[in-house]
Amino acid sequence: MAERKPVIITPEQLEEQRQYMQEILCLPQRPKSYFVVTYGCQMNAHDSEILAGMLRDMDMTEAPDREQADFVIFNTCCVRDNAERRALGNVTWLKEVRKRNPNLIIAVCGCMIQQPGMAEKILKQYRFIDLAFGTSNLYKLPELLCRTLNSDRAVVVVEDEDTIAEDLPVKRLRNDAAYITIMYGCDNFCSYCIVPYVRGRERSREMEAILAEAQQLKDSGVKEIMLLGQNVNSYGKGLEGHVTFAELLRKLDKMGIPRIRFMTSHPKDLSDELIEVMGKSKHILPQFHLPVQAGNDEILRQMNRRYTREQYLNRVRTLRAAVPGIGLTTDIIVGFPGETEEQFQDTMSLVKEVGYDSAFTFIYSPRTGTKAAAMENQIPEDVATDRIQRLIALQDECQKQAMGRFVGMEEEVLVEGLSRRSNTAVSGKGRHGVSITLPGSEADIGQIVRVRVTEIKNNTLMAERI
Ligand code: SAH
Ligand code: SF4
Ligand code: F3S
Repeated sequence: MAERKPVIITPEQLEEQRQYMQEILCLPQRPKSYFVVTYGCQMNAHDSEILAGMLRDMDMTEAPDREQADFVIFNTCCVRDNAERRALGNVTWLKEVRKRNPNLIIAVCGCMIQQPGMAEKILKQYRFIDLAFGTSNLYKLPELLCRTLNSDRAVVVVEDEDTIAEDLPVKRLRNDAAYITIMYGCDNFCSYCIVPYVRGRERSREMEAILAEAQQLKDSGVKEIMLLGQNVNSYGKGLEGHVTFAELLRKLDKMGIPRIRFMTSHPKDLSDELIEVMGKSKHILPQFHLPVQAGNDEILRQMNRRYTREQYLNRVRTLRAAVPGIGLTTDIIVGFPGETEEQFQDTMSLVKEVGYDSAFTFIYSPRTGTKAAAMENQIPEDVATDRIQRLIALQDECQKQAMGRFVGMEEEVLVEGLSRRSNTAVSGKGRHGVSITLPGSEADIGQIVRVRVTEIKNNTLMAERI
């Protein structure tokens, strides 16, 4: 693949977008309320926060639900077939809502739209969509909306550029915890994965920009930051000087934000330096999301993951030695083309051996344009379904066992909300990333509370305050 340079959006380009915002404010037909529907990963969730930030700056208010909004944006995902189908199903349903509100504007953006030829295909099939734009055009929302409002035809903009835009408005979902994107795109080309095609080449934000954003969040009272990237461990590649993820973490740790988390990590790029920084840090939480995908070397090779089972297990051992009791989570795919029962058993035995706190398990879904989609020996659905069920059952067992280590332990919970089961209890995540329920009230939301874990009930850790 030819080398591509990131396109840095200039302050002048951002000023141009602010002028479009002003222009929209003068249009009588402008929408007054919005709703953003988000699918997919945390990257998309954060992109939606930026969309909402721009809409807020255009004087629109968030509608209580999508049926009451004048402007609905679907921020889509295409990592698996079901993610795509779900998004399209909901877009179609909104067509009915338009009969009641003829001024309703419907936009579709995100990864699904960024696929080659997809925007045109979707617009042909779904003629009621007013606007479609790709992942690299997010910052242009004011301009695109302005064009949509002044046109009878659908506006479509999908550019194949690897953009980095700083200082965009953002309306955050939470006041106590915040996302910070540190790198965009992915260069790994795992053979099953569409992300590199829809998110572009890997590119990192300048460290100063990240540190400034973190400082601002700290000053506003944020207690937890989550650093985002498809492969945060290779952060810094392409930047001037020797900039590494470990170095970024070291600097952030000194800043004094109580809790720092990150995702996702690729095992092949998980350095000893990073593990050492985690071991010595005060604020980097003792948790790690380390997708393994499969436990068999031949399947890992076919997936183009560039590590072996043994190398993966070595990373796990090193992490556990440096950060005792660390919370470990993973992603696993079953039914990759050609996967035999024996090879699947290697995934099962790895899950047993590691003992994850939780695992996201997926049935392999062929994605157009990826290498694996063209492989022979695609696995029949019933075989894959049977495998994922056995894997989930095993993981449930392992999870119960893994959670046992917390009973009797002291933890700190960042309270997220009232418990679903009781209104005299609240829940949130402990430092290890596991959900914990404790006695409390609405006043605790957004606070860090010290607790002692007392028991496991219905697969949840229960705790008392100390
Ligand atoms: N960059 C991250 C994950 C991105 S996608 C990483 O490398 O870990 C999140 C998860 O979706 C992946 O870890 C993988 O388990 C799963 N996934 C990606 N493509 C898939 C496909 N075609 N079929 C099924 N699962 C897939
Ligand atoms: Fe996809 Fe692999 Fe990149 Fe993750 S590292 S986004 S699985 S190509
Ligand atoms: Fe989906 Fe795009 Fe994330 S494809 S998983 S929303 S990067």
